[in-house]
Amino acid sequence: MEKAKLTYNGMTHEMPVLVGTEGEKGIDISKLRQVMNLITLDVGYQNTGSCTSSITFIDGDLGILRYRGIPIEELAENGSFSEVAYLLIYGNLPNKAEQQLFSQRLTQNSMIHEEMMRFFDGFPPTAHPMAILATMVNSMSVYYTDYFTEDFQADTFDLMAASLISRIRTIAAYSYKHSIGHPHVYPKRDLKYASNFLYMMFDSPVNPYVPDPDIERALSILLILHADHEQNCSTSTVRLVGSSMANLYASICAGICALWGPLHGGANQKVIEMLDEINKKNLSIKNCIDSAKDKNSKFRLFGFGHRVYKNYDPRAKILKQYCETIFKKYYYDDPLLAIAMELEEAALKDSFFIERKLYPNVDFYSGILYRMIGIPTNMFTVMFAIGRLPGMIAQWKEMHDSVPHKIGRPRQIYTGSNLRHYVPLDER
Ligand code: SDX
Repeated sequence: MEKAKLTYNGMTHEMPVLVGTEGEKGIDISKLRQVMNLITLDVGYQNTGSCTSSITFIDGDLGILRYRGIPIEELAENGSFSEVAYLLIYGNLPNKAEQQLFSQRLTQNSMIHEEMMRFFDGFPPTAHPMAILATMVNSMSVYYTDYFTEDFQADTFDLMAASLISRIRTIAAYSYKHSIGHPHVYPKRDLKYASNFLYMMFDSPVNPYVPDPDIERALSILLILHADHEQNCSTSTVRLVGSSMANLYASICAGICALWGPLHGGANQKVIEMLDEINKKNLSIKNCIDSAKDKNSKFRLFGFGHRVYKNYDPRAKILKQYCETIFKKYYYDDPLLAIAMELEEAALKDSFFIERKLYPNVDFYSGILYRMIGIPTNMFTVMFAIGRLPGMIAQWKEMHDSVPHKIGRPRQIYTGSNLRHYVPLDER
């Protein structure tokens, strides 16, 4: 075991250095406060690991992403979303029997309780679908009580996981139908995951949904690419909330809320709004790049930059290629793709972006593909949540499987007032 030494105030503390299976190294500081009465401070956890994990590996410098050791490129090329979800949660790709049981569970749990449907009557049609999603997911704990447990039990976990993965799709589609004043469409038992979602989204009594294998594949690829990303903001939220022994639904609800932020999962909606504004106002690419570099300007190049990737986000690379391929095949033209590519080309030549290693991230091209599929812009982050759900569930399970189980409770450095006393109102 390698060691690291910290010397301070005449004391030296030796700390073990953990080496991961891909050679990553971390100093275990778990005894630091006890031995040296010191804590570390790392705003934004830029250098701090919260756990060990065997789910997802990212090499930010090389632009590598693997789920349970399998490269994202191979999963996007060959996998289905349900088998990737199984891989993340249970550690291996399912065999035929496991896949069949998992698919059955997804089918059996695809409808939402009729009493939950009444929730939609309470939401205004303009309600943001992320607000609806978080509300409905948290409410699942009061409707699906037959296999609901606060703590982690393997058999109930399997059903709660399948219930969430299947129903999140139904809730999302219903929120769209509610927003356009159309009747909800019930899921079909003979449709696969992505197809069933698109059916619930776009079928209507007057316009039957016409399945398109290419579009359904495009959605599956989007969901696979979003399925997990190790300890990002929202997944860390799921782990932290779950560490208090809050139930799975409550923990996922918290993760959905964290994902909503425009610096995180909400960026895909911001990217399209940014590209749309450039297109509508015919803004110059050079001016946009200059504004993105100007600290005083409000303009930020959404879809660019990443805490971990200091090279091209492999997901963005796959999405960019897929957009070009499928747009050619369908003779589909979206001016926003050309603008995105021009922005990327200009940024990647600019020293400000080069010095800071800012590259397109998963959100830069995903919205352009969602647009082609027909997903409304305000649902893009909901799509991110649907894709990311298996990863959140897998990380929640891994946290519960970890020994010892510790509630997450960071420390702080206090910088407020020193001791002072209460002063009565008439003396202030
Ligand atoms: C996701 O963590 C994950 O894995 C997330 C995710 C996942 O799958 O879960 O990958 C999904 O959230 C992708 C990121 C989506 N967000 C955006 O596209 C929003 C735009 N990007 C930035 O806000 C930013 O890059 C972050 C939030 C993504 C990362 O922030 P960091 O790591 O805290 O970096 P930073 O803000 O400290 O930036 C470092 C420098 C700064 O300049 P200086 O102070 O050094 O002069 O880079 C600049 C920043 O101003 N910078 C940008 C920029 N991103 C960073 N400048 C212009 N445009 C940008 N997009």
